Amino acid sequence: MKAGIDKIGFYAPHLYVDMTKLAESRNVDPDKFTIGIGQEKMAVPPMTQDAVTLAANAAVDILEDSDKEAIDFVIFGTETGVDSSKSAAVYVHELLGLNPYARAIEVKQACYGATAGIQMAKAHIAMNPDSKVLVLGSDIARYGLSTPGEATQGAGAVALLISADPRVMALEDESVYFTADIMDFWRPVYSDKAFADGKLSNEQYMAFFSRVWEQYKVKTGLALSDFAAICYHLPYTKLGYKALKTVLEEGTEEVQERLLASYNVSTGYNRNVGNIYTGSLYLSLLSLLEQTDKLVAGDRIGMFSYGSGAVGEFFTGILQSNYQDYLNIDRHTELFASRSEISVPEYEAIFEETLPTDGSTVKLDVEIDPARICLAGIADDKRQYVNKVKSVSY
Ligand code: CAA
Repeated sequence: MKAGIDKIGFYAPHLYVDMTKLAESRNVDPDKFTIGIGQEKMAVPPMTQDAVTLAANAAVDILEDSDKEAIDFVIFGTETGVDSSKSAAVYVHELLGLNPYARAIEVKQACYGATAGIQMAKAHIAMNPDSKVLVLGSDIARYGLSTPGEATQGAGAVALLISADPRVMALEDESVYFTADIMDFWRPVYSDKAFADGKLSNEQYMAFFSRVWEQYKVKTGLALSDFAAICYHLPYTKLGYKALKTVLEEGTEEVQERLLASYNVSTGYNRNVGNIYTGSLYLSLLSLLEQTDKLVAGDRIGMFSYGSGAVGEFFTGILQSNYQDYLNIDRHTELFASRSEISVPEYEAIFEETLPTDGSTVKLDVEIDPARICLAGIADDKRQYVNKVKSVSY
């Protein structure tokens, strides 16, 4: 039985800052951000968006009533959780009106969480072929104003519906995963900003890719020429390119051209959103699938997932017949087109605004956020969410 990705949804906040203008205001050559790091625009989350609402907004457009009935497992990958105890998946389950006979959990391992979710979902589908699993990867990347990490911030979510006989991509069984205890990037519970050893994190990303790729070839007997494309976890788009470059010489000139061309397409959405941590690999996959006409059913796509700390995995999927018909290209084109640019001072003001941590009540103006699902405030130490269309709030 095949299991894999039946639908993919995506959401990014409606505000962004231009990377050239950010560079100028930091007295940095804009080429460093746009070429050296490879980012054009950075999504900025307003107060009314958190990991829960980003994920719910990513999922809300792709689910039909039959999906909502069939989903019996919601797996929420995030490193931007809103509660140390209750899972973000339970909030999304309610906001989307899913079948109550469902499991709902949160998974954490930095940017690897959604990949862990997908592999759990695949196993669940093997045991329960009639069910569907909603896997969410949702995060807000925050390092701080004027820090080296600032240019690699972002916010957004990807929602993946995993089912039997998937219409977009069947996941293959072979995969290689690797864990080692490394302090390359972390966020202590007392901090709302991540700490990163930038150089070490880049080195480890490359080292993990090399390890899992080499082992994957041994395990499967496959070679670079067996891939139509390889997608990467993209904290910034230059890093995946550097990883790809380390293996390109294993292919003929034609294979190299194919993989480089598909890599460029796979960075399009990420280049304009920034790092969305655990959803980032899947945003790259979405960018590839929605923005190229060079792929055909039967093509194999490789995926490199990396979550600092650190866990890496290389796994693959096969595109299904007419997979293009099950994508949501118009919705995502509209999402990008309807965003608004904000100035660097406006971005800085939004960045500095934070929710109270002393238990006080706050009410947020959800009308200034065009998103369907918003955080409306905090009362009695409980986050108040609203789905404007479902007209249910709690
Ligand atoms: N024109 C063109 N390129 C330029 C340039 C210019 N004027 N000036 C500099 N560059 C290039 C540099 O040569 C460099 O390229 P190479 O890496 O190919 O040498 C690139 O721009 C970046 O320059 P620096 O290395 O000097 O940049 P930095 O040290 O200021 O910051 C960073 C880069 C370390 C990635 C930093 O943004 C950071 O710490 N980010 C957060 C951590 C991160 O994203 N790590 C990635 C791996 S960890 C992971 O994958 C998990 C995750 O999601 C966080």
